[in-house]
Amino acid sequence: MDIDALFAIALEASKSSYSPYSKFRVGAALQCADGSVVTGTNIENRSFGLTVCAERSAVATAVSSGRREFVGIVVATPDAEYPVSPCGACRQVLSEFMAEGAVVVFGSSAKDLVVTTMGKLFPYDALHELKGNG
Ligand code: THU
Repeated sequence: MDIDALFAIALEASKSSYSPYSKFRVGAALQCADGSVVTGTNIENRSFGLTVCAERSAVATAVSSGRREFVGIVVATPDAEYPVSPCGACRQVLSEFMAEGAVVVFGSSAKDLVVTTMGKLFPYDALHELKGNG
């Protein structure tokens, strides 16, 4: 997984962000097991709770096109001065499709990347026994 290349792709995806309320752009680049990369961005709504984060938007696009196996994800938050990690809801959704060892990277700039794993971000999966295989 080429983290630097994926960060550049995530940064580019953040330019499509629809975030008129927070003015906080986020882009995500999901590395699929088949070698392809799927992007996502955050899509806000005036009913604030309906906002979709960049990570979940990328997962929705990938799964909608038949891709369910992901090696890792890189998230770019260019409007922050420090790396912003995926929110709790996104950790839950990513864990549906990503193994414990899958790579999760986040950063506000290419020089400021945090590299971790799905297992570290979401260590206690209370619902693991319900995880679907179909
Ligand atoms: N957001 C994401 O898209 N991903 C994250 O990891 C953190 C938060 C979005 C949601 C909202 O549109 C904005 O960033 C501010 O929270």
